[in-house]
Amino acid sequence: MRKLIVAGNWKMNKSLNEGIELINEINEKLKSKTNDALVIYGTPFIHLAEAGKMVDNKSIFLSAQNCAAEASGAYTGEVSASMVASTGAQYVILGHSERRAYYNDNDEVLTKKVDQALSNQLNPIFCIGEVLDERESENHFNVVKAQMENVAFKLSADDFKKLVIAYEPVWAIGTGKTATSDQAQEMHAFIRGLIREKYGEQVADDTTILYGGSCKPSNANELFSNPDVDGGLIGGASLKADDFVGIINAL
Ligand code: PGA
Repeated sequence: MRKLIVAGNWKMNKSLNEGIELINEINEKLKSKTNDALVIYGTPFIHLAEAGKMVDNKSIFLSAQNCAAEASGAYTGEVSASMVASTGAQYVILGHSERRAYYNDNDEVLTKKVDQALSNQLNPIFCIGEVLDERESENHFNVVKAQMENVAFKLSADDFKKLVIAYEPVWAIGTGKTATSDQAQEMHAFIRGLIREKYGEQVADDTTILYGGSCKPSNANELFSNPDVDGGLIGGASLKADDFVGIINAL
C-alpha cells in the first residue's frame, strides 16, 4: 500500500524556539485529523534533537533537509546521516533544487548521500524537477528521467522502496506559480511509468510520489485528487500551522 504523505520543508527558517512552538501548534491541531496521511516535519539541523521528542514515528515523523556525503570525520560544518538518525529523524530530503543549484549537489554527490542515508536507516525524500527553460523547450520529461536514472535507479529494488519521490518543478517553487493539476498528474504518471519499467508493477504502485511547488490550502485539494499525486512537499506554507494543517486535511 502506497503511503500518503504531507512533508514540510522549512528551509532556512525559524529559530529553535520558534520551530518548537510551530510543531507544538501543529501537533495540537493534528489531534482532530481525520485522514491517515503521514505528516513529516523537515526542519533545519538545529531543531532535530528537540523535535525528535515531539514526533510519534507512527503518523508524525521528522526529516532533515540534507546530510553529508561522507560517513564521519574531518568535514567541518557537515552533519552525517548517522548523526541525523541519532536524533530520531527517519527521513532526509535529498536532491532539493536549491541544494542542486547552490551547493553542487550533483548526481555523483547525491548518489553518495542516498547511500549514506540508507546505510543509516533514513528514508530519502528524493527531489527531482525541471527548470523553466527545460519545460518551455519541452525537455522536462528527459530531465526528470535522467535525474531518476542517475541516482535513484542505481538502487536495488529493496533499497528503492525506501525512497519517497518528490516532483518539484523548479519554476513553481516559492514563486506562487503552481503546476496545473493536469501538469502534475502527467509528470507523476510518467515517473510512475519509469519506476514500473525499472522495478515492476508492485514497486511502482507502492511508491509515494509527492508534488511540491507553491502548494497551499486553496490548491492542495485539486492537486491531491489526481491518482498519481500522493501528497505534497510543502515549503512556504509549512511555516504556518493553519496553512500546513489545511494542506494535510486536503489529502
Ligand atoms: P514552496 O517550496 O512550497 O515554498 O514552493 C516547496 C519546496 O521547495 O519544497
